[in-house]
Amino acid sequence: MQSSRKVGVIGAGLMGAGIAQVAAASGAEVVLVDTTDASLGRARSAMRDSLARIYKREDDPERLVEQALGNIRTSTELEAVADVEIVVEAVFEQLDVKKAVFNELDRVCRADVVLATNTSAIPVTFIASATNRPEQVVGTHFFSPVPVTKLCELVRGQLTSDATLARARAFAEDVGKTCIVVNVDSAGFVTSLIGAALCNDAVRIVETGIASVEDVDTACRLGFGHPMGPFQLMDLTGLDVQHDASLRIYEETGDPRFLPPRTLVRKVVVGDIGRKSGRGWYTYEEEQG
Ligand code: NAI
Repeated sequence: MQSSRKVGVIGAGLMGAGIAQVAAASGAEVVLVDTTDASLGRARSAMRDSLARIYKREDDPERLVEQALGNIRTSTELEAVADVEIVVEAVFEQLDVKKAVFNELDRVCRADVVLATNTSAIPVTFIASATNRPEQVVGTHFFSPVPVTKLCELVRGQLTSDATLARARAFAEDVGKTCIVVNVDSAGFVTSLIGAALCNDAVRIVETGIASVEDVDTACRLGFGHPMGPFQLMDLTGLDVQHDASLRIYEETGDPRFLPPRTLVRKVVVGDIGRKSGRGWYTYEEEQG
């Protein structure tokens, strides 16, 4: 299937900038929208740095960087995506914020648009309910850093049509991703569910004195071939993010495995939330300074 060549991305943070970058590098015309020019300026410089790293071994890296950046138009107005074939939303992970964006997209976008959300844990059906065309709403869950990480989780909402899913797949594959399909949009999908289960079990293993933080990480790296252990992963993504995702899954499933463990809750309460605060399961002297 021919993928969408006119792409809108809403939210120019870590994920939105990454998605806009890979789309532009694949040759699509991209419109990147955020609420402020400052966010859009930061995104453009992050994309420039990332593209420069990616193309550094090519013959004329500067030309390739400029070519990709030249495919990206930025705007603070949502109306700027009126004509695109697919929109990927990557605003804050809050249902009310996402619903307001989708309500507005429903108003401004063309009739045959695909409306995709990059949510990591909110059921797509809830977001789609803010539109009058839920069959055109789908989850495209990309991973950070977007230019490097190969997976895209495609998430079906309750009413997502097969055609919408196929067009979302074509887009993701065109930007170089391999897709898996999540057939039921239960909170956490596949990856956040497995991630929460693994991290919570790792914390409980330490709480019960079975092994240390360092040894659980070593076990997962060397025993299972994971690139980093669950404690290193939590420190990287943020203990607060991990906590909230797990709690959301618990609230939807009622499964006690997903109730955030006591030690995790306490670390979040005192602000030891990982690399971004200088301390989580490990201490990061450089980030503190
Ligand atoms: P971020 O906080 O870096 O960026 C969010 C951006 O959205 C900000 O620039 C903000 O100004 C903008 N924004 C907020 N409301 C807006 C609106 N109404 N219209 C236009 N722009 C608006 O967030 P990040 O990390 O990029 O996450 C975005 C989404 O991707 C979230 O749903 C998150 O759960 C999901 N996600 C995040 C991953 C990560 O590793 N950070 C991984 C996979 C998914």
